[in-house]
Amino acid sequence: MLKVLCVCGARPNFMKIAPMMDALAVRDGVAPMLVHTGQHYDDRMSELFFGDLGIPKPDINLEVGSLSHAAQTAEIMKRFEPICVEHKPDWVVVVGDVNSTIACALVARKLGIRVAHVEAGLRSFDRDMPEEINRILTDTISDKLFVTEKSGLENLKNEGIPASRVHLVGNVMIDTLLKSRARAEKSTILTALELTPKKYVAVTLHRPSNVDNKEQFGAILAAFEQIAEKTPIVFPVHPRTRKNIAGMGLAGRIDAIANLKMIEPLGYLDFMKLMSESAAMLTDSGGIQEETTILGVPCLTLRKNTERPITIEQGTNRLIGCDTKTIVDAFAETQSHPPVGKTPDLWDGKAATRIVELLVGASL
Ligand code: UD1
Repeated sequence: MLKVLCVCGARPNFMKIAPMMDALAVRDGVAPMLVHTGQHYDDRMSELFFGDLGIPKPDINLEVGSLSHAAQTAEIMKRFEPICVEHKPDWVVVVGDVNSTIACALVARKLGIRVAHVEAGLRSFDRDMPEEINRILTDTISDKLFVTEKSGLENLKNEGIPASRVHLVGNVMIDTLLKSRARAEKSTILTALELTPKKYVAVTLHRPSNVDNKEQFGAILAAFEQIAEKTPIVFPVHPRTRKNIAGMGLAGRIDAIANLKMIEPLGYLDFMKLMSESAAMLTDSGGIQEETTILGVPCLTLRKNTERPITIEQGTNRLIGCDTKTIVDAFAETQSHPPVGKTPDLWDGKAATRIVELLVGASL
């Protein structure tokens, strides 16, 4: 039996680990195991996704919770090492670019356990992003690197990673999207929020560069004030952003925007429905740039860079930065000239199956 230990920790990991667990469950000769680091722990940031996506209950939860970057990474490593020693997996599979990803990859590699990185090779070339550091370090020490888009192949080649370790397999997050689409369709979230399809904008914001700086956050809010004059905005608020809104004294300003609804973070199916029926998404998320590409929804990314360039070259994404006027103008442009995208190669719902076959093949 090939022992494959999968790791998840934070919200964007859950939609990537779900298809991996599905594909491992149906493959003969494989014994899967799931470890949740507990980096995200609120029901709305974690538990809800296990239900929505049918992820099996984790075999082990390390319950690390929120700490500084160093303390969180160190604590995950301390708690993950004995699990690896006890269970002796043949592979540790990590996904994405969060602190749990690098922490568990590093522990496994130093114990001589092979590491597979799902969603390898993405680069924003912005080393001020904690995720960029996590990506570079995880890729350097991984034995198998599974890449979602061609830019990843190029980036890994430029960093000297041997081609034999790297495979373009498609996008596991899109596996989840395609599998969940029919169920998401049935969500009643629009009725609950009194929204009309294609007549509202949905927003998500949580990057430190946007929400930890009052001036920057204020410039984005000024754009919301103008957009909301004509178009309702719905804003599921990440816990980090909610804390900052309170801490920076911005709550009054947001409350004063009559047409803006701040709501709690949504589960996967409700959020998918909200996104697919929106007139446009305004976001600083990584995953939403990819999901909107498949849904054909205009996406305006409030960042200076993206590690997912294919969503701009082939999808419906535009990188617009955080200047008030640029945001307002870009939104108007998406409504008068909606972008038309196409599906990137291999984003076909079968990425996790390809990965499992490659892992089994590499273990023979
Ligand atoms: C993390 C990831 C980021 C990902 C994001 C998605 C890293 C470095 N960053 O950032 O890549 O896009 O998750 O959500 O791993 N909090 C709660 N409840 C929770 C989780 C967090 O209240 O369940 C609060 C805590 O107060 C915490 C803050 O949110 O201090 C930030 O959480 P943390 O996991 O440190 O980073 P994220 O900003 O969520």
